[in-house]
Amino acid sequence: MKIGIETISMYVPRYGLDLRILAEHRDVDYNKYHQGIGQEFMSVPSPDEDVVTMGANAAQQAMAGVDPTDVRTVIFATESGIDQSKAAAIYVHKLLSLPENCRTVEMKQACCSSSSALHFALATVALKPKEKVLIIASDIARYGLESAGEPTQGAGAVAMVISASPRIMEIGPEVGYFTEDVMDFWRPNYKNEALVDGKYSIKVYMNALEHCWKHYQEETHARFEDFDHFCYHLPFSRMGTKAHLHLARHEKAGLSSKELQAQVDPSLGYNRITGNAYTASLYMGLLSLLDNNDLNLAHKNIGFFSYGSGCMGAFFGGSVLPGYREHLNSSERAAWLRDRHHLTYEEYLSFYNHSLPQNGHNYRTSRHRSGAFRLAGVESHQRIYECVPAGAGASAESVKALAAAPAV
Ligand code: HMG
Repeated sequence: MKIGIETISMYVPRYGLDLRILAEHRDVDYNKYHQGIGQEFMSVPSPDEDVVTMGANAAQQAMAGVDPTDVRTVIFATESGIDQSKAAAIYVHKLLSLPENCRTVEMKQACCSSSSALHFALATVALKPKEKVLIIASDIARYGLESAGEPTQGAGAVAMVISASPRIMEIGPEVGYFTEDVMDFWRPNYKNEALVDGKYSIKVYMNALEHCWKHYQEETHARFEDFDHFCYHLPFSRMGTKAHLHLARHEKAGLSSKELQAQVDPSLGYNRITGNAYTASLYMGLLSLLDNNDLNLAHKNIGFFSYGSGCMGAFFGGSVLPGYREHLNSSERAAWLRDRHHLTYEEYLSFYNHSLPQNGHNYRTSRHRSGAFRLAGVESHQRIYECVPAGAGASAESVKALAAAPAV
């Protein structure tokens, strides 16, 4: 029985900041961002977006053509959760009107929980092949203003339906794991931004990659040359290149640097223009690879390395299915990415500094460009979500409410 990805889609906010603008305001040579870390543009969520709205927007697309009554499990992977108790999956379940006979959970282990969600989904489908699992990975990567992590910020969501009738990719059941208690990146409950030891986090990432690969080899006897392309967790795009060269050196891969670049480069494109999206980042890399028009990936084997600070890693493999291209919304994705609104520096600050009342007071969020779902506000300590009629724009009142922010 083949089990894997039946549908996959992604959502990123309709706003973003060109890193040339950030470089200018931080008095940094733009080449450091462009070449040094490999970033050009970062997605910035508007005040009426959060992980639920982004996740619901991605999931709505992933569910197109899927019978909702087949979905018995919704797993929401995030490290930017909106509640300590209630799963974000329940909000999405309601927004998408999924059937009531469904289990709905949220999972956490930094950027890596989306891959654990995938592997739990594979096991569920193996046990009950008629059931499908909807996985949502949604995050807002936020660091302090003027911190080293700031240019790597981003936001977005990926949703996938995992089933015994995959159309995009079959995923193998074997996984190489690694866990170690380290403090490379974390976010205590009282902080809105991550704390990070950046250089150390890169070392820990590389160490986890080596251990996961070794474990994967022990489990499968796989060789480096069994894979045609590689997708890595991408906190910034250059990390994917660094990780791939590191693994190739470790394996004495005997490929030219051009050949090695060709194995990893196609997965980096979306990260360059959206930034880190934590749990969604690896799978945005997969979409970047799949959307590449110059490659016919049918029957190609893809190696995945998922990394979550703290830390846990997972290495696993998948094989692209013939006809995959017909089931991707590649041109719609390209148009969405192209049409994003470029923020000014002041608008970026205004979005960054916006926060919901910390005391639970009732609040209406101003309307900005969004997808099909938005956060309307807070009432009685509860987040209120609403569907956005196609073509709806911002109201005059909402524009006044967040004067410095762009409204449409
Ligand atoms: P930094 O101190 O700003 O940058 O931190 P740097 O000085 O290390 O420079 C970066 C690169 O730019 C270097 O290249 C420089 O040489 C180069 P490298 O040595 O790496 O080859 N450079 C230039 N290149 C061209 N022209 C120039 C120029 N100047 C310098 N003028 C750092 C960079 C990534 C550490 C920082 O952005 C950071 O702290 N980011 C956040 C943490 C992070 O992303 N860690 C990655 C691994 S951990 C992870 O992936 C998990 C995570 O996603 C969270 C989760 O799991 O939930 C973060």
